Amino acid sequence: MATLSEAYTETPLHLQHIIPIDFDSVEEVPQSHSWPQSDDESPRRMFNLDGDHFSIPAIDLDSPDAIEMAGHACKIMGIFQVTNHGIPSSLLREIESQAWRFFTLPARAKVKALRSPSGATGYGVARIAPFFNKFMWHEGFTMMGSPLEHAREVWPHGYRKFCEVMEDYQDKMKALSERLLAMILKYLGISEHDVDWPRLRSNACTALQLNSYPRCPDPGQAMGLAPHTDTLLLTILHQNHSAHGLQVHREGRGWVPVFPMNGALVVNVGDMLHIMSNAMFPSVVHRVIPSENTHRLTVGYFYGPPTDFHVGPIHGLTQTSGQEDAARFRSITVKDYVQMKAKNLDKALSMIRIR
Ligand code: OGA
Ligand code: NI
Repeated sequence: MATLSEAYTETPLHLQHIIPIDFDSVEEVPQSHSWPQSDDESPRRMFNLDGDHFSIPAIDLDSPDAIEMAGHACKIMGIFQVTNHGIPSSLLREIESQAWRFFTLPARAKVKALRSPSGATGYGVARIAPFFNKFMWHEGFTMMGSPLEHAREVWPHGYRKFCEVMEDYQDKMKALSERLLAMILKYLGISEHDVDWPRLRSNACTALQLNSYPRCPDPGQAMGLAPHTDTLLLTILHQNHSAHGLQVHREGRGWVPVFPMNGALVVNVGDMLHIMSNAMFPSVVHRVIPSENTHRLTVGYFYGPPTDFHVGPIHGLTQTSGQEDAARFRSITVKDYVQMKAKNLDKALSMIRIR
């Protein structure tokens, strides 16, 4: 069966859209990374951390109300944080330290793990970069399963620990994603049969992404990660509690920060859960603003169904008679949707919308 990596081979990138600049070598934000201030998406215009005491709900997964709270948060915001998630804090510290070990290498060492033009894994700029005419203040390392091939290039004799931590983290995140998804289905009153749960889980498409947002001489001009929605079902993000930068877009409020909470993981709805929920859950638009003082590292885990799985509004949610409940999207395979998104970014959802 096709893998998630293969879904990307049809949209090869130019090297300029793979190799990040050497952030250590710049003392000011170069033109190539300076976002226009008149633009609606301008970091400076929207940079507003004070005044708004909006907060993302934190849900204790051991609480008897966890299902109700998680479902409600998906519906209202498409994002929440979880505590008591069962991921050992030692593993969170270890993955941060391995991410740190990689991103603090000199640029010439990091490019040994460079993503290939038609590849999906390895070191490089954000996948969404070709859609913007300015570059982002960001570098990433993407993995799908074992990072052995890339890690061995970087550390011919010291790759083992890196691989162990990355694999262990992916195993635990997979289990947590399944747990969260089962809770969400329960909230929706959907039986596992309605979504072909065993098949959905059997060959899940997953990716692990280490993100680095180096210190930026003028964060007001730069963009860490441009506004986007995540493609798969769910994203689980670990952000170090001492560094914020993630913001979500809220109707009528603009950009609001998601402050890190010690030990909590951020969970957000992606496009595929938006589609399966028949638009009941928003696929939250989010972005990242860099900081002047902190080099911020985050770890994103993306979870989706197998590549040949058909994603469409869940039957049980579209069966009732009212117009409101009619299916809003046509169904599409995961592979086709990933490709559509790689070619059209934020237009992809509207291309499968039927009403
Ligand atoms: C992502 C993402 C947010 C962050 O990797 O898709 O949105 O804070 N990351 O790094
Ligand atoms: Ni994202």
